[in-house]
Order: sequence, then C-alpha cells, then structure tokens
Amino acid sequence: MARNGRIFLLGVWALLLLTPALAAGPPERAAAVSGKYVGPGGCAASSCHGSVQPKAVTRIFQNEYSIWIAQDKHARAFSVLSNPVSLRIGKILNIGRPDQAAKCLVCHSLYVPTEQRAQIFELDDGVSCESCHGPASGWLGPHTQRDWPHEKSVSLGMYDTRNLTLRSEKCLTCHLGTAEKFVDHEMIAAGHPDLTFELDLFSTVMPRHWKMPESYETGAWRQVQAWGVGEAVQLRESLNRVSRRAKDTKGAWPEYAELDCFACHHSLTMPLDSWRQERGYPGRRPGNPPWNQSREVMFRALVEEISPGAAKQFNDESTRLAGLMNQLNGNREEVGASADRAAALADQMAKQVEGQNYDSALTLRLLRRVAGDGAAIANEGERPAEQAAMTLDSLFTAYNQNAKPANGADVRAAIDALFQQLQNPSAYSAPRFAAQMQRVSELLGR
Ligand code: HEC
Ligand code: HEC
Ligand code: HEC
Ligand code: HEC
Repeated sequence: MARNGRIFLLGVWALLLLTPALAAGPPERAAAVSGKYVGPGGCAASSCHGSVQPKAVTRIFQNEYSIWIAQDKHARAFSVLSNPVSLRIGKILNIGRPDQAAKCLVCHSLYVPTEQRAQIFELDDGVSCESCHGPASGWLGPHTQRDWPHEKSVSLGMYDTRNLTLRSEKCLTCHLGTAEKFVDHEMIAAGHPDLTFELDLFSTVMPRHWKMPESYETGAWRQVQAWGVGEAVQLRESLNRVSRRAKDTKGAWPEYAELDCFACHHSLTMPLDSWRQERGYPGRRPGNPPWNQSREVMFRALVEEISPGAAKQFNDESTRLAGLMNQLNGNREEVGASADRAAALADQMAKQVEGQNYDSALTLRLLRRVAGDGAAIANEGERPAEQAAMTLDSLFTAYNQNAKPANGADVRAAIDALFQQLQNPSAYSAPRFAAQMQRVSELLGR
C-alpha cells in the first residue's frame, strides 16, 4: 500500500485532485483524509437511490437502496450477529454479545469512530453504502447535480469502486481480512464460516446494483477483467496475510486457517479407497497438512496465459513458500520473507492483469486452460477446486453472453455439476472432481 502511504504523507490536496484514481485508499486512511460518514438513511429517498423500480432519467437506476435493503445480505450483516450461531461464537470466544463486540462489528457494520460520524446513525444497518463507497459528507450534496463527474466525488472522499483494483481491495478488507480485522481458525472452530472470494461471482450474488456491462472502460469483457483483477489482488493480499501471521510471534503458528482445511477435516476410508494415498504427498512429508493454495491456482493460469516469463518467476517463489508452509513448524522468518517477495511479484503482475485487453479469444483460452488442468487442480484440494469452479462460472457467463456458443446450455450444466461436487467438502473427492472437469474440458473443445 505504498501508493496511498506516499500520498497521505505528502498531504498535497492538488495531487489528489490530479490523480483521482489514487486518492482513495484503504477505508481507514481515506476516512482520515476526507469526509465523515452519514449512514445509509442519507441515500434512501425515492428521488435519490431509493426508487423501487429502476429509472431511466439519469445514468443511474436510482433503485440501489431498494436492491440493497431487499436482496443484499450486507443489509443483514449486523442482524446475523445475534443469531444462534453468533451467540455461540461469542460464548466460546468469551467476547460477550457479538453485536456489541468490536471483534465482529468491524466487518459486520459501518463501524467507524464516533468523531468520523457526521450525524447519529445506528450500526444495525449492517454493511451499508459508505462501507464500500466511502464517507459521504463531502460529496452527498453536490453529487446530485446533473453531469457531476465521478472523479469529482472521488476527490471529495468517495471511494473509487469503479477502479477494479481498489474495488477488490475494498471487498477483501472484509472477505479476506486486514491486520486490524480478521477471521482465524479459532473463530472458524467457534462457528464462523471460512472466507472465500471471487470478485465477479460475488458481485453477481450480491446482487449488482449497477449497470452491466459496465461500459465505461472495456465494455463487454469487463467481467473477465474483474475476475482477473480480483484474483490478482486476492492473491497479493493473502500473501501479505501469511507474512503478517508468520511475523506476529504472539499469534498462533502454524495458523490452521492458512492450510488446506480438508487435509485435516475429511472422513477416513479403507486404504484402497483413499484417493489421498493413491495421489501420494508430493512436496511434503506424508501426513503434513499442506498450505492452502486456492489463491495461487487461478492466478497462475491467468499469468501463464498473458505473461509466461513473469509466471515462471512467481511460480519459483511460490514453490519455495509452499515448501516452507508444508513443514509442520515452518520457520516463521523464512516464511515471512518469502511471502513478502511473492506478494511483491503478485503486485507487479496485478497491474499487468488490470491493463490487459480481454476479449472473446483470451476468455476461451482461459476457460480451456483451467478446465484442461482439471486433474492437477483437483489434487491441490477442495478450496482450489472451488476457486476453479467459481472461475469457470464467471468466465463462462461472460463468454456465453457475448460469444453465444451453440452448446452453451451443455457447458453451463457441466459447470453447475462442479459445484455439486463441492457441497459436502469433507467428502470431497479429487478423482470425481477431475472427471467432471474433464467433461467441461471436452465440451469447451481444444
Ligand atoms: C474480517 C471480517 C470479519 C470479521 C472480523 C467477522 N466476520 Fe462474520 N463474516 C464475514 C464475512 C465476509 C462473512 C460472509 C462469508 C461468506 O459467506 O463468504 C461472514 C459471515 C458470518 C456469519 C454467517 C452469516 C450467514 O448469513 O450465515 C456469521 C454468523 C458471522 N459472520 C458472525 C461473526 C461473528 C460473531 C464475528 C465476531 C466474533 C464475526 N462474524 C467477525 C466477515 C467477518
Ligand atoms: C458491498 C459494497 C457496496 C455496498 C454496500 C454498496 N455499494 Fe454501490 N456499488 C458498489 C460497487 C462495487 C459498484 C460498481 C462500481 C461503480 O460503478 O462504482 C457500485 C455502484 C453503485 C452505483 C452506480 C455508480 C455508477 O457510477 O454507475 C450507485 C449509484 C451505488 N452503487 C449506490 C449505492 C447505495 C445508495 C448503496 C447503499 C444503499 C450502495 N451503493 C451500497 C459497491 C457497494
Ligand atoms: C465492511 C465489510 C464488507 C465489505 C467491504 C464487503 N463485504 Fe461482502 N459481506 C460482509 C459480511 C459481514 C457478509 C455476511 C453477511 C450475512 O451473511 O448476513 C458479507 C456477505 C457477502 C456476500 C454473500 C455471501 C453468501 O454467502 O451468500 C457476497 C456475495 C458479498 N458479501 C460480496 C461482496 C463484494 C462483491 C464486496 C465488494 C464490492 C463486498 N462483499 C464487500 C462484509 C463485507
Ligand atoms: C492442521 C489441521 C487443521 C486444519 C488445517 C484446519 N483445522 Fe479446523 N480443526 C482442527 C482441530 C484439531 C479442531 C478441533 C476439533 C475438536 O476439538 O474436536 C478443528 C476445529 C474446526 C471446526 C469446529 C469443529 C466442528 O466439527 O465443527 C471447524 C468448523 C473447522 N475446524 C473448520 C476448519 C476450516 C474451514 C479450515 C480451513 C480454513 C480448518 N478447519 C483447517 C484442525 C484443523
């Protein structure tokens, strides 16, 4: 995050105005620079974003609030903190009521310090507009003017969610965690879901309250670009997280949430029925839980497609890191240093991934590469398989809409069947997943 740090230190307002894309930083910092939070009530009027039906008066549908409140789980993120699962998490972790505990509120509400609130608002709105769009006090009034440019709002404190790197970073503050807010195996063992993410699919599930395709940059293939940038930023941030955890000598180590969950959490079979024994334990002592490489696998496929030279450099470092993580008590300093190097490489490549031109041919090559690599991905474990399924889903949705292949319905059904294989992760079978990937691959052709 050197980029934001530099700008923050200079504190040159003019620079912010000249480079709007750079002005928005991680939420904490952006808030310190400009603006206060007003709460979602400020956006809810039917003449603003609270229309029930989409409108055609301006570029914006104006029904964003209605979509969020009625369909988006973010609007309920606070209320889940008092459901039975949360109450039990609170008891196990001994933190009192989760809906009053900072440990939970940081991700489940617009939890900003009192002095950054422009007016009184309640935390019970959950993850609301300003959790993603930044503090509104600076731009709330002026941004309703006709032809008001987005860049001007950004210079007044709006977070630039239009920029795919910044958008990914924002989602991942909660969907992967930061130094200040995190989900670890202790929380997971208490009942919290594990955090997985894929920008394009998660945007679809939210659902999107903005126009598709977002035509302002690369048009039709922007979904594919969003997938790629999401994978790259997620990889970089997950490497930063490994590094943080390795270096924090007061924290648990190994941190189980960085490892392959289902190396430990699977049911046992008769020896001859065990696909794990059949596969063997490449790169580690038999029985050691391996590093969870779900965030590496799809990124590798993408970089090998667009920049094979860079892919090799990254793969070398990531293999070294895997070797260290796959030891029972891998050296924390060495892990931290290797993760830092890998994160720097991922950061460089993330810029290339964002600048890449995405089209029908590249999307099809990516689909074929991922599906064709099914056996190797399947053997990496359940989480990498899940990431591959989400990737094929996102890439194929874009491809199907724009290129309209004749066997679209068959490919769609074959991809849906991949998700069925993941419904009971403790019973995950690599050979069965690989066989279904093979079916997808045949339908996609060569
Ligand atoms: C780093 C951010 C973060 C922190 C901290 C966090 N959560 Fe979550 N929580 C999430 C995300 C993201 C999801 C959604 C995960 C998904 O479905 O992919 C979630 C989901 C949940 C769910 C499941 C909700 C559902 O719809 O079934 C519960 C329950 C929950 N969190 C409770 C808690 C409690 C209790 C705490 C505090 C002990 C807490 N969370 C702290 C990010 C966080
Ligand atoms: C979980 C994150 C998140 C939340 C919560 C959220 N948004 Fe968004 N919003 C986005 C993203 C991502 C986009 C797409 C990128 C863009 O166009 O800025 C977007 C786009 C928009 C747009 C279209 C902007 C344009 O220029 O096309 C509007 C308007 C909007 N959001 C309003 C709201 C309102 C009002 C709320 C609260 C009721 C809200 N959003 C809540 C993430 C979020
Ligand atoms: C301030 C923290 C925060 C941010 C930022 C955030 N989320 Fe979330 N998200 C959550 C929490 C907490 C939940 C769980 C809510 C629940 O289950 O009630 C969640 C749930 C979701 C879900 C539902 C998952 C499921 O299992 O059904 C999707 C999809 C999602 N988020 C997508 C996104 C996307 C895309 C972005 C960025 C544009 C984003 N989120 C940004 C905290 C956040
Ligand atoms: C190194 C082995 C190991 C890894 C890797 C691991 N866990 Fe665990 N997990 C455990 C142990 C040991 C317990 C405690 C079980 C007990 O006390 O019965 C546990 C407890 C749990 C529990 C609560 C127990 C239950 O049956 O409900 C859940 C849920 C869980 N882990 C999920 C995960 C997830 C998700 C991941 C990956 C992000 C993961 N674990 C990674 C060893 C592991």
